Amino acid sequence: MTMQRPAVTYQDHWKTEGYDHISVTPINPVVGATVEGIDLSRPFNDAEIAEVRRAFLAHHVLVFHDQNISEEQHKAFGSLFGELHVHPLKHDAANNRGGDPAILEIRTTANSKYTAGGAWHADVTCDERPPASSMLLIRQIPEVGCGGDTCFANMHKAFETLSEPMQEFLRTLTAVHDGAIPYVGAYNTTPPEGGYPRNEHPVVVRHPETGREVLYVNPGFTSHIKGLSRFESQSLLEMLYRHVEKRLDIQCRVSYRPNTLVFWDNRCLQHQAAWDYYPYSRSGGRVSMIGHRPTREL
Ligand code: SIN
Repeated sequence: MTMQRPAVTYQDHWKTEGYDHISVTPINPVVGATVEGIDLSRPFNDAEIAEVRRAFLAHHVLVFHDQNISEEQHKAFGSLFGELHVHPLKHDAANNRGGDPAILEIRTTANSKYTAGGAWHADVTCDERPPASSMLLIRQIPEVGCGGDTCFANMHKAFETLSEPMQEFLRTLTAVHDGAIPYVGAYNTTPPEGGYPRNEHPVVVRHPETGREVLYVNPGFTSHIKGLSRFESQSLLEMLYRHVEKRLDIQCRVSYRPNTLVFWDNRCLQHQAAWDYYPYSRSGGRVSMIGHRPTREL
């Protein structure tokens, strides 16, 4: 099978100049940018959204501060980037805390037993078609005025910084992603009838818009790699997770103000919420947009 070359490369997108409607300031050259000049509580025009899309593909995480928007406006902005996703916890009455089906409440207080997203992960990779992107709007930051950053890792870079023999080997593998790992194992919920979603995805996939390769296993959801012994699978996954954790050069941290909206690309990132603000509280809501089934070739 011949390998398709991406039509548009990462480098083509990575230009801070040439934005007429928004202003884009990278957090670092690898991942993350702050976007100014757009008010998400007002109607947007196509030119603004086209520039947001370009910045999104270039930087993978976009940070919009001071966006005091309603749930409807949050969903409307998300809908521009795909069909809204309903989280597996929302499908089940026993675990669903109510509210709009498309909005996942993110709330951690002094009484919380865990914080959502407290381990490195991409959102809901247990789904057959995991969210392509998510938008987290943090309305309340910890009363102490700091803490509660989200850390992001660029999973293109995670793959590209492995040795060529390792890259070649990983391209041949498939992994199982299981919703029971976070939702039962970490959150202690009761599984719905039929269980949480469980799906297989290639260990190396291509970003559907840029064609760039991505390391696609994460400690939040990946249970094992098919065809390897349990020991081999665990050892290989641990090595890959340590690789992502220790490479500060592929990561950024995003800090919040009240009403900061963070928009990230789940197809090429992992993230982890820092619970460094106990006993203070942090809250908001997340919408996610359904993506394609992750594939090795486009
Ligand atoms: C999440 O994983 O979506 C939560 C991230 C956060 O609260 O920072």
